[in-house]
Amino acid sequence: MANNTFVTQPSLPPLDDFIPYLREIWESKNLTNGGPFHQRLEAALCEYLGVEHIALFSNGTLGLVTALQALRVTGEVITTPYSFVATAHSLLWNGIKPVFVDVQADTLNLDPEKIEAAITPQTTAIMPVHCYGHPCDVDAIAKIADTYGLKVIYDAAHSFGVQTETGSVLRYGDLSVLSFHATKVFNTFEGGAIVCPDAKTKQRIDHLKNFGFVDEVTVVAPGINGKMNEVCASFGLLQLQGVDEAIRLRGEVDIRYRQGLESVRGIRCLGDAGERVKNYSYFPIMVGVEYGMSRDELYAKLRSEGIYGRRYFYPLITDFPMYRGLPSAARSNLPNAAKAAAEVICLPIYPSLEKDIQDKIISIIAA
Ligand SMILES: Cc1ncc(COP(=O)(O)O)c(C=O)c1O
Repeated sequence: MANNTFVTQPSLPPLDDFIPYLREIWESKNLTNGGPFHQRLEAALCEYLGVEHIALFSNGTLGLVTALQALRVTGEVITTPYSFVATAHSLLWNGIKPVFVDVQADTLNLDPEKIEAAITPQTTAIMPVHCYGHPCDVDAIAKIADTYGLKVIYDAAHSFGVQTETGSVLRYGDLSVLSFHATKVFNTFEGGAIVCPDAKTKQRIDHLKNFGFVDEVTVVAPGINGKMNEVCASFGLLQLQGVDEAIRLRGEVDIRYRQGLESVRGIRCLGDAGERVKNYSYFPIMVGVEYGMSRDELYAKLRSEGIYGRRYFYPLITDFPMYRGLPSAARSNLPNAAKAAAEVICLPIYPSLEKDIQDKIISIIAA
């Protein structure tokens, strides 16, 4: 176990730095319910990310479920099969039918050119994912949404800090949902957030994440308990101080992989999708036929050497029993997603990944 390398390792500040935050919580006895750390983290994240309004959540999945509730999305929603299951699960939890559309071969993001053909009179929204933190074609998606009067909720679980030429990628769509899970670039142990464009929407989301309570005696909606607690919020404030350095170090890992794997026949490193500021949240490689070994053989070889990459996203969401019977889940409808699910391995990437381990990973792949 000690010598194994996993796809990620959470960045943690020194424990001593966290103690004063915990002491403050212990002294105030304010543990949750939108306490002072919760409010401070919302403000700090708005500033760091360059967005207007943020509602913190106890995890990203509840953020997705609540975002759909907040916009009263019903019927059918167009989404990607190439994601973590929570994307589609959030639709089922709202009684919404997912309609799967293929991804682009180069970015692995929802292909805007294929969205229109999937729209029906029941379609009310699109839920794209900025896969691996690479921005979707936000302008093309906005155009389609405008034409057909659809809402857009971005699953931005991978997109902390990512910017396009016009600023934060989180400003696109009606809402964007972040995850602060332990495996993410910025973590609060568990956590998440909805980025929203106006104060009124944030207020509705704040009610929804607190059972629908507006005041002591008024409940306006069948809300849920999605609040981030004070321990996680205070940890987030501390984490925020180190996040620029964490992303910088991830960037060094990224470039070392690219240089080391450049000349390996059959291995393709996924490029960016035009982002101006990246977060290097994942390092996916695609193992093509020319490599001479299948993706699964390489995956097993790496594991036998203690290197635990991950086949994100295999199986496709559409392969799971609750989705595979849908007409849009047919393989023939999703050739690019199916190819990616068969070819991708995400290699270990995290700020403290030692250079010699990284070189070992590169040499196993290049051997
Ligand atoms: C694309 C995507 N969506 C949603 C989630 C769910 O976020 P959480 O684990 O914070 O609930 C994750 C990851 O965990 C994810 O990768």
